[in-house]
This record gives sequence, C-alpha cells and structure tokens, in this order.
Amino acid sequence: MTAITKICCIGAGYVGGPTMAMIAKKCPHIEVTVVDLNEQRIAAWNDVDVTNIPVYEPGLSDVVAEARGRNLFFSTDVESAIAAAQMIFISVNTPTKTYGSGKGQAADLKWIELCARQIARVANDNKIIVEKSTLPVRTASAIKDILTHTGNGSQFQILSNPEFLAEGTAVEDLDAPDRVLIGGDNTPEGRVAVQALVDVYANWIPRERILTTNVWSSELSKLTANAFLAQRVSSINSLTELCEKTEADINEVARAIGTDSRIGPKFLKASVGFGGSCFQKDILNLVYIARSYGLSEVADYWEQVIIMNDHQKRRFANQIIKNLYNTVNGKKITFLGWAFKKDTNDTRESAAIYVADHLLHEQAEIAVYDPKVIKNQIYADLNYLQTRKEEENRKGVEVIEDPYKACEGAHAIAILTEWDEFKSYDWQRIYDSMLKPAKIFDGRNLLDADKLKSIGFQVRSIGG
Ligand SMILES: NC(=O)c1ccc[n+]([C@@H]2O[C@H](COP(=O)([O-])OP(=O)(O)OC[C@H]3O[C@@H](n4cnc5c(N)ncnc54)[C@H](O)[C@@H]3O)[C@@H](O)[C@H]2O)c1
Repeated sequence: MTAITKICCIGAGYVGGPTMAMIAKKCPHIEVTVVDLNEQRIAAWNDVDVTNIPVYEPGLSDVVAEARGRNLFFSTDVESAIAAAQMIFISVNTPTKTYGSGKGQAADLKWIELCARQIARVANDNKIIVEKSTLPVRTASAIKDILTHTGNGSQFQILSNPEFLAEGTAVEDLDAPDRVLIGGDNTPEGRVAVQALVDVYANWIPRERILTTNVWSSELSKLTANAFLAQRVSSINSLTELCEKTEADINEVARAIGTDSRIGPKFLKASVGFGGSCFQKDILNLVYIARSYGLSEVADYWEQVIIMNDHQKRRFANQIIKNLYNTVNGKKITFLGWAFKKDTNDTRESAAIYVADHLLHEQAEIAVYDPKVIKNQIYADLNYLQTRKEEENRKGVEVIEDPYKACEGAHAIAILTEWDEFKSYDWQRIYDSMLKPAKIFDGRNLLDADKLKSIGFQVRSIGG
C-alpha cells in the first residue's frame, strides 16, 4: 500500500478531536478530516476563536490553531470524508446500554454499527478501518461482517488502535505516549495495514513504543488497562473507611506502599470515587463479556471495583449528612468542582453528580462552582438521572460563577474536583462569610487541613 495521505475520523469528541489534531500537527503531509453528525460540535471546532473549541484540554487550542485549515479539517460532511480517505478512524461513543438485553452493562454498539454501514455504503475503494473507540473484544469481527456483506467488493482491513490518553493531560499523552497499541490480522494484507498505521505514528513516536498484537489482544488490552487503573482507585478507597475507624491515615498508607517499586505511587490517591466516561463503562463491559462466556468468578471479581466506587460516593454524601446533625434539609452546601477530574470540562459519571443527587433527596440546597463546566451541563447531568423533575433540579441547585459568592452563607463546602485553584483561595475570607461551625468535606484530600483548622474550619478528609 502507498503511504497514507488522507485520513478521516468519524466522531469529533474527547478522543477524535485531540487525537486527530495531534496526528495533523505531527504529520503535515497527511490531510486529516474529522467528521461528526453534531453540527454544533463541528461549528465549535471551527470557531474562529480557537479557545472556544468544545473540548477543554491544556495546550489543545494551540495544537488546533497550528494545524486547522492547513491539514486538519472539521466537517459534518461524513460521506465525502469517508469516500476520500484511505484510512478511517472510528471514534464514536460506545456508552453502556440503557435498554434491552445487556442493559446497564454491555456496550451499546449502535453508533459503531451505523458507522460500519455508512462506510460500506459510501466506500468505493479499499480502506483501512481503525477502531479508536473502546470496544468489546471481538467487535472487529462484527464490523468486518457488515463491511464484507453490504459493501461493493472493496477490501477492508480492520485494525484495533485503542486510545490511552487521560483527559486533563491529553496533549502531553498524545505527544509522548507510554505506548501506542495496534492490533491487526496476521495475514499478508493485515500486516500491510498494521504497517501503514505504524508509519503514521512513527512520524513522532519511537518505534519501540509502538506495540503490535492481534486484534483481540488489542481490544481486550484497553478494557484491561482501564479495569486495572480503576481497581487501584477502588483498592485504596476501600481502605479509607478502615483508616477512619483505626486512626491510620490513608495518605501515609499510600505513601508507604507506593514507594514499593512493585506497587508504584500512581493512582493511589484516596477520593470520593472515580468518574469519567470510561472506567465504569469499560469494567461493566468486561463484566458482561466474562458473564456471557459463563465466567462468573471473573465477572464478580471485576464487578466489585464498581460496587466499591458506588459505595464510596454514597458514603461521602452520608458523611456530610451525618456531620450536619443528620439533616441537610434547607441547608446550603457548596460544591467546589463538578468535572470528574481537574483540567477537563468533562462531567460524565462525575462523583459530584451522584453526591448532589443524594443530597437533593435529603432536600439540601446546593450551590456549585466549577471553573470550566457550564451551568447547563450541570443541570443536564442531574436531569439525565431522571430522579426528579427538571424544575426541582433547577430549584435545588444554583450554579454560581464566583467561588467566594458560592460559599457565602453555606453550612458546608464539599470539594468534588481537585482543581489547583481551590488550594490558593483566601480561605479566611471564605470562613468569615460562612455559617458556623463552618465545615469542609474534602472529597479529594486536596486542601491543607491543618491550615484550615487553624482558621477555625471543621475539616473531614477522606480516610484521615
Ligand atoms: N474520553 C476519553 O478519555 C476516552 C479515552 C480513551 C478511549 N475513549 C473511547 O473513545 C470513544 C469516544 O469517546 P469520546 O469521549 O470521544 O466520546 P464523545 O461522546 O465525546 O464523542 C463521540 C462523538 O461521536 C459522534 N458520533 C456518533 N455517531 C456518529 C456517526 N454515526 N457519525 C458521525 N459522528 C458520530 C457524536 O456526535 C460525538 O460527538 C469511546 O468508545 C470511549 O470509550 C475515550
């Protein structure tokens, strides 16, 4: 195959946008077109003011500014982009199914199938299809089935190339990834396709960091990586409750075990629980696949990671209630942070949503401040749960753009996201404006508890 010069990516979300922007930046000789059905999203990617792109990631606007209009294009014309490309990345969403068989666990592959059918309809020459979305093991065979049975005789090679970027550090991760993983068929045509994608990444990534495997190993590795990462969070969180009973301190425990080189220090930060669009969805998917093969011990083992995470979110909300004398009815509780982690505006599965929902059941009045999340997103997240009427969410939650105002008159502050700016607030000023006793529930163990206590705050950390 001749070298790739035209790439199309279907899906301009948190993965499609940044990954394609980086390929375009590093490979000026390749024309990259990112397409999406969502017109608003594409318009935002094309906004003249590059700070208005729809995904907030440190450094991403600069990458887009450099390549956009040169060899990076965003468009809603999905069919033309498919027809023109030699290589098509599929980066559409694969959420947990909300209906029918597999509801609440299996990945909903509706959008993947639609993409495959659209490619089959439009393609009139050979193409390499790259699964960038996270997919259950053996999805490539379903895609291949659709392409070979509804296509017009064109040849398709399906590669799996899961994305390991972390939101909040996407640009760094894409610029210098620990590894890139490419799975393909072990046939002459498969090997040629794998090589074509290796050559794209080799424009900036050292060859030894580009791993090649069979398609199934690659698909399963992505689910496994997320399951391991989430399991570390649940493992450390499971011990926070024990620390609170025994006067052990989880930060000290984490430091003590993290210095063991076999364990390592990363992902040992105790918190209110993990969120984000991937961890829960991918583990549920793993659990579902294991069960579908009758592997109930395997499924139960991984399911416990989710059970512990749900427990941790509920426990945090219950601690707030208990500490506010067993009632939060009519009490103002201020949430600092709504995003699922710092340096992103993504709120999917954020712990804040579930803690807020729990407190709203107890008729608390919640004020929210987040530096990057817009008001409508916060209401949309709560409405999505369908636990109460939309008007009630509007009434129970006020979104305030100034953190000091948000804290005024509050009974308690809950830290839900580890945004750096929270550390440098004028906490004396905040203390002075709150009701007393002024309480802080630090769901991220972010703030200097001793300093806050010396001001007069009552501070509850996780596992402290
Ligand atoms: N967000 C992450 O950090 C992350 C990291 C690694 C992998 N992933 C995986 O990548 C995939 C995409 O995740 P995301 O966070 O970018 O999702 P997203 O929801 O932000 O973006 C998906 C986009 O695909 C578009 N889309 C859906 N069907 C389409 C179609 N038929 N034609 C054109 N556009 C279509 C949607 O409109 C949406 O804009 C998922 O499988 C996810 O698990 C995500």
